[in-house]
Amino acid sequence: MEFTVAITGASGSIYAQRTLLHMAASGVVERINLILSNSAVTVAKVELGVDLTNADRNTINRWLGLPADSRLIQLHHLDNIAARPSSGSHPQEGMVVVPCSMGTLGAIASGAGTNLIHRAADVTLKEHRRLVLVPRETPFNAIHLENMLRLSRAGAHIIPASPGFYHRPQTVEALVDHFVFRVLDHLGIPHSPATQWKGLQEDARALINSAED
Ligand SMILES: Cc1cc2nc3c(=O)[nH]c(=O)nc-3n(C[C@H](O)[C@H](O)[C@H](O)COP(=O)(O)O)c2cc1C
Repeated sequence: MEFTVAITGASGSIYAQRTLLHMAASGVVERINLILSNSAVTVAKVELGVDLTNADRNTINRWLGLPADSRLIQLHHLDNIAARPSSGSHPQEGMVVVPCSMGTLGAIASGAGTNLIHRAADVTLKEHRRLVLVPRETPFNAIHLENMLRLSRAGAHIIPASPGFYHRPQTVEALVDHFVFRVLDHLGIPHSPATQWKGLQEDARALINSAED
Protein backbone atom coordinates (compact mmCIF):
# COMPACT_ATOMS: atom_id res chain seq x y z
CA MET A 1 0.00 0.00 0.00
CA GLU A 2 1.15 3.54 -0.72
CA PHE A 3 -0.15 6.73 0.87
CA THR A 4 0.61 10.43 0.96
CA VAL A 5 0.84 12.02 4.41
CA ALA A 6 0.81 15.81 4.66
CA ILE A 7 1.58 17.68 7.87
CA THR A 8 0.37 21.27 8.09
CA GLY A 9 0.65 24.04 10.65
CA ALA A 10 -2.33 23.30 12.89
CA SER A 11 -1.68 22.39 16.50
CA GLY A 12 -1.18 18.65 17.02
CA SER A 13 2.17 17.65 15.49
CA ILE A 14 2.01 14.59 17.73
CA TYR A 15 -0.97 13.30 15.70
CA ALA A 16 1.25 13.34 12.61
CA GLN A 17 4.13 11.66 14.40
CA ARG A 18 1.97 8.85 15.80
CA THR A 19 0.12 8.40 12.48
CA LEU A 20 3.43 7.89 10.67
CA LEU A 21 4.65 5.51 13.40
CA HIS A 22 1.53 3.36 13.25
CA MET A 23 1.52 3.31 9.46
CA ALA A 24 5.12 2.11 9.59
CA ALA A 25 4.22 -0.53 12.20
CA SER A 26 1.18 -1.80 10.26
CA GLY A 27 3.34 -3.98 8.03
CA VAL A 28 1.12 -3.26 5.01
CA VAL A 29 2.32 0.22 4.06
CA GLU A 30 5.23 0.02 1.64
CA ARG A 31 5.69 3.69 0.84
CA ILE A 32 4.70 6.99 2.44
CA ASN A 33 5.01 10.18 0.41
CA LEU A 34 5.54 12.80 3.10
CA ILE A 35 4.97 16.54 2.57
CA LEU A 36 5.47 19.19 5.25
CA SER A 37 4.15 22.73 5.05
CA ASN A 38 6.43 25.53 6.29
CA SER A 39 4.11 26.15 9.24
CA ALA A 40 4.18 22.45 10.14
CA VAL A 41 7.92 22.84 10.74
CA THR A 42 7.29 25.82 13.05
CA VAL A 43 4.57 24.05 15.02
CA ALA A 44 6.63 20.84 15.39
CA LYS A 45 9.43 22.94 16.83
CA VAL A 46 7.06 24.59 19.33
CA GLU A 47 5.15 21.46 20.31
CA LEU A 48 7.66 18.62 20.05
CA GLY A 49 10.96 20.49 20.22
CA VAL A 50 12.04 18.85 16.96
CA ASP A 51 13.76 20.77 14.17
CA LEU A 52 12.47 19.62 10.78
CA THR A 53 13.90 22.61 8.88
CA ASN A 54 15.29 21.38 5.54
CA ALA A 55 14.56 17.85 6.73
CA ASP A 56 15.73 14.91 4.64
CA ARG A 57 14.93 11.22 4.95
CA ASN A 58 17.60 10.75 7.63
CA THR A 59 16.09 13.53 9.78
CA ILE A 60 12.62 12.00 9.44
CA ASN A 61 13.83 8.45 10.18
CA ARG A 62 15.63 9.75 13.27
CA TRP A 63 12.54 11.70 14.41
CA LEU A 64 10.35 8.61 14.13
CA GLY A 65 12.91 6.16 15.45
CA LEU A 66 12.91 4.20 12.17
CA PRO A 67 16.05 2.35 11.04
CA ALA A 68 18.56 4.77 9.45
CA ASP A 69 18.41 2.84 6.16
CA SER A 70 14.59 2.70 6.04
CA ARG A 71 13.25 3.81 2.66
CA LEU A 72 9.60 3.70 3.74
CA ILE A 73 9.27 7.46 3.82
CA GLN A 74 9.89 9.49 0.69
CA LEU A 75 10.01 13.19 1.46
CA HIS A 76 8.73 15.66 -1.16
CA HIS A 77 9.33 19.40 -1.11
CA LEU A 78 6.22 21.56 -0.77
CA ASP A 79 7.12 23.43 -3.97
CA ASN A 80 7.82 20.32 -6.02
CA ILE A 81 4.58 20.37 -7.94
CA ALA A 82 5.94 17.64 -10.24
CA ALA A 83 6.42 15.11 -7.40
CA ARG A 84 4.76 11.70 -7.54
CA PRO A 85 1.60 12.56 -5.52
CA SER A 86 0.79 15.44 -7.89
CA SER A 87 -0.46 13.11 -10.62
CA GLY A 88 -3.52 10.89 -10.65
CA SER A 89 -1.67 8.49 -12.93
CA HIS A 90 0.56 7.54 -9.99
CA PRO A 91 -1.31 4.74 -8.21
CA GLN A 92 -1.75 4.99 -4.46
CA GLU A 93 -4.43 4.19 -1.91
CA GLY A 94 -5.06 7.63 -0.50
CA MET A 95 -3.88 10.61 1.48
CA VAL A 96 -4.20 12.04 4.96
CA VAL A 97 -3.60 15.64 6.05
CA VAL A 98 -2.79 15.43 9.76
CA PRO A 99 -3.18 17.85 11.39
CA CYS A 100 -4.98 20.00 8.82
CA SER A 101 -4.89 23.77 9.29
CA MET A 102 -7.83 25.94 8.35
CA GLY A 103 -5.63 27.51 5.68
CA THR A 104 -4.94 24.21 3.96
CA LEU A 105 -8.56 23.13 4.46
CA GLY A 106 -9.73 26.30 2.72
CA ALA A 107 -7.27 25.92 -0.15
CA ILE A 108 -8.39 22.33 -0.80
CA ALA A 109 -12.07 23.27 -0.50
CA SER A 110 -11.65 26.10 -3.00
CA GLY A 111 -9.91 23.93 -5.58
CA ALA A 112 -7.41 26.76 -6.04
CA GLY A 113 -4.39 25.23 -4.37
CA THR A 114 -0.90 26.64 -4.62
CA ASN A 115 1.42 23.92 -3.28
CA LEU A 116 2.02 20.17 -3.46
CA ILE A 117 -0.21 19.42 -0.44
CA HIS A 118 -3.18 21.18 -2.05
CA ARG A 119 -2.49 19.56 -5.42
CA ALA A 120 -2.11 16.05 -3.98
CA ALA A 121 -5.39 16.43 -2.04
CA ASP A 122 -7.15 17.70 -5.16
CA VAL A 123 -5.83 14.72 -7.14
CA THR A 124 -6.93 12.30 -4.42
CA LEU A 125 -10.47 13.67 -4.61
CA LYS A 126 -10.66 13.67 -8.40
CA GLU A 127 -9.43 10.07 -8.51
CA HIS A 128 -12.06 9.10 -5.91
CA ARG A 129 -9.39 7.80 -3.55
CA ARG A 130 -9.54 8.12 0.23
CA LEU A 131 -8.79 11.63 1.42
CA VAL A 132 -8.74 11.92 5.22
CA LEU A 133 -8.55 15.40 6.71
CA VAL A 134 -7.84 15.96 10.41
CA PRO A 135 -8.83 19.60 10.93
CA ARG A 136 -7.83 21.27 14.15
CA GLU A 137 -9.08 24.65 15.32
CA THR A 138 -11.32 25.84 18.10
CA PRO A 139 -13.85 27.29 17.89
CA PHE A 140 -14.74 26.83 14.21
CA ASN A 141 -16.13 29.85 12.37
CA ALA A 142 -18.80 29.57 9.68
CA ILE A 143 -16.17 29.55 6.91
CA HIS A 144 -14.36 26.58 8.49
CA LEU A 145 -17.64 24.70 8.90
CA GLU A 146 -18.77 25.43 5.34
CA ASN A 147 -15.39 24.30 3.98
CA MET A 148 -15.65 21.04 5.90
CA LEU A 149 -19.18 20.42 4.63
CA ARG A 150 -18.06 21.18 1.07
CA LEU A 151 -15.15 18.76 1.35
CA SER A 152 -17.30 16.09 2.95
CA ARG A 153 -19.76 16.37 0.06
CA ALA A 154 -16.82 16.02 -2.37
CA GLY A 155 -15.90 12.72 -0.73
CA ALA A 156 -13.32 13.66 1.92
CA HIS A 157 -13.41 11.97 5.33
CA ILE A 158 -13.47 14.78 7.91
CA ILE A 159 -12.06 13.49 11.21
CA PRO A 160 -11.58 16.46 13.52
CA ALA A 161 -8.82 16.15 16.08
CA SER A 162 -11.18 15.55 18.99
CA PRO A 163 -10.01 12.44 20.85
CA GLY A 164 -12.33 10.36 23.00
CA PHE A 165 -11.86 9.52 26.66
CA TYR A 166 -14.03 6.43 27.05
CA HIS A 167 -10.99 4.12 26.94
CA ARG A 168 -9.58 5.97 29.99
CA PRO A 169 -6.21 6.98 28.53
CA GLN A 170 -3.45 7.29 31.12
CA THR A 171 -0.91 8.98 28.85
CA VAL A 172 -0.94 11.54 26.05
CA GLU A 173 0.28 8.79 23.70
CA ALA A 174 -2.67 6.56 24.65
CA LEU A 175 -5.05 9.46 24.04
CA VAL A 176 -3.51 10.27 20.67
CA ASP A 177 -3.15 6.66 19.53
CA HIS A 178 -6.81 5.90 20.11
CA PHE A 179 -7.64 8.80 17.82
CA VAL A 180 -4.97 7.83 15.26
CA PHE A 181 -6.48 4.33 15.01
CA ARG A 182 -9.74 5.94 13.83
CA VAL A 183 -7.73 7.71 11.14
CA LEU A 184 -6.15 4.39 10.12
CA ASP A 185 -9.63 2.81 9.99
CA HIS A 186 -10.66 5.41 7.43
CA LEU A 187 -7.50 4.83 5.39
CA GLY A 188 -8.09 1.06 5.43
CA ILE A 189 -4.89 0.33 7.37
CA PRO A 190 -5.08 -2.50 9.94
CA HIS A 191 -4.10 -2.00 13.58
CA SER A 192 -4.50 -3.79 16.89
CA PRO A 193 -8.07 -5.07 17.53
CA ALA A 194 -7.45 -4.26 21.22
CA THR A 195 -8.45 -0.68 20.41
CA GLN A 196 -11.90 -1.56 19.05
CA TRP A 197 -14.95 -0.80 21.18
CA LYS A 198 -16.51 -4.04 22.44
CA GLY A 199 -19.41 -2.64 24.42
CA LEU A 200 -19.55 -1.39 27.95
CA GLN A 201 -17.64 -3.62 30.40
CA GLU A 202 -19.21 -4.66 33.71
CA ASP A 203 -17.03 -2.40 35.87
CA ALA A 204 -17.81 0.66 33.71
CA ARG A 205 -21.53 -0.16 33.76
CA ALA A 206 -21.43 -0.41 37.57
CA LEU A 207 -19.66 2.95 37.70
CA ILE A 208 -22.36 4.60 35.61
CA ASN A 209 -25.14 3.01 37.66
CA SER A 210 -23.60 4.24 40.91
CA ALA A 211 -23.24 7.75 39.47
CA GLU A 212 -26.95 7.71 38.58
CA ASP A 213 -28.03 6.63 42.11
C1 LIG B 1 1.99 27.16 17.48
C2 LIG B 1 0.97 27.36 16.39
C3 LIG B 1 -0.23 26.71 16.47
C4 LIG B 1 -1.19 26.86 15.47
N1 LIG B 1 -2.37 26.17 15.58
C5 LIG B 1 -3.27 26.25 14.57
C6 LIG B 1 -4.45 25.44 14.63
O1 LIG B 1 -4.70 24.68 15.56
N2 LIG B 1 -5.29 25.49 13.56
C7 LIG B 1 -5.04 26.28 12.47
O2 LIG B 1 -5.85 26.26 11.52
N3 LIG B 1 -3.95 27.07 12.41
C8 LIG B 1 -3.05 27.07 13.42
N4 LIG B 1 -1.91 27.84 13.36
C9 LIG B 1 -1.75 28.77 12.26
C10 LIG B 1 -1.26 28.12 10.98
O3 LIG B 1 0.03 27.56 11.17
C11 LIG B 1 -1.23 29.17 9.85
O4 LIG B 1 -2.56 29.56 9.52
C12 LIG B 1 -0.51 28.72 8.62
O5 LIG B 1 -0.56 29.75 7.65
C13 LIG B 1 -1.10 27.46 8.02
O6 LIG B 1 -0.35 27.14 6.87
P1 LIG B 1 -0.33 25.68 6.27
O7 LIG B 1 -1.75 25.29 6.04
O8 LIG B 1 0.40 25.84 4.96
O9 LIG B 1 0.39 24.81 7.19
C14 LIG B 1 -0.93 27.70 14.36
C15 LIG B 1 0.30 28.36 14.29
C16 LIG B 1 1.24 28.19 15.28
C17 LIG B 1 2.56 28.89 15.17
